Amino acid sequence: MIELKSSEEIEKMLASGKIVSKVLKTMQEEAVAGVSTWRLDQIAEEIIRSAGAVPSFLGYAGYPASICASINEEVVHGIPSKERILKEGDIIGIDVGAYLNGFHADAALTVPVGKVSGEAKRLLSTTKKALHKAIELIKPGIHLGDVSHTVETYAAEGKLGIVRDYCGHGVGRRLHEDPCVLNFGRKGTGPILKAGMVLAIEPMLNLGGDEVEVLDNDWTVVTKDGSLSAHFEHTVAVTENGHLILTA
Ligand code: MF3
Ligand code: CO
Repeated sequence: MIELKSSEEIEKMLASGKIVSKVLKTMQEEAVAGVSTWRLDQIAEEIIRSAGAVPSFLGYAGYPASICASINEEVVHGIPSKERILKEGDIIGIDVGAYLNGFHADAALTVPVGKVSGEAKRLLSTTKKALHKAIELIKPGIHLGDVSHTVETYAAEGKLGIVRDYCGHGVGRRLHEDPCVLNFGRKGTGPILKAGMVLAIEPMLNLGGDEVEVLDNDWTVVTKDGSLSAHFEHTVAVTENGHLILTA
């Protein structure tokens, strides 16, 4: 069942979303060569807690940190570590959630560390574009499949692999709610969007093939062919007139 949020609830989610976007803005500045992903996690947790919120991911299904920090071929769920030091030319996906006043918000971006290859730049810009084109569409009456199809279209245009084993999701009182938001699909299929739905839309695209696998730590998802992967995510509310990005 897709839970609908009242406008008061969406206001609350916007407060959670503002904390998430503040974290991501800071992460963009702090993700430089020489910094560990553990340090990024510390900075993120500090921002979340000083805003009076709780990190959504910490302890979620036993997850040990406040952010996911996924470097290069890591797709999602990279675990922060003192041993993982960013270096020039890496790309790093940072995913974060904040819980405040009973509601979560969830967002992610992938940033270049210093100068990166042209292909890496193209992967980042295309994945970000796929997310924003999908969001642009959102209003009551469209089908969820229209959103999924849009992501797929931009991925295909860029000849990028689409991660099919993970999806976006509804978000609200729980971090993961219905529906599953696939990054591929057919127009005119799936549930019809209604005002009050809140979706975390999160394309995960690869420079190589679609296939992924999970590392021995049981969390970190990597591309099977070792190709670079990018992840961008926003929490988006469906409103009477269209949509509102809660993590902008
Ligand atoms: N944004 C991530 C997702 O929707 C949340 C990570 S789950 C956690 O999959 F366990 F790592 F917290
Ligand atoms: Co998510």
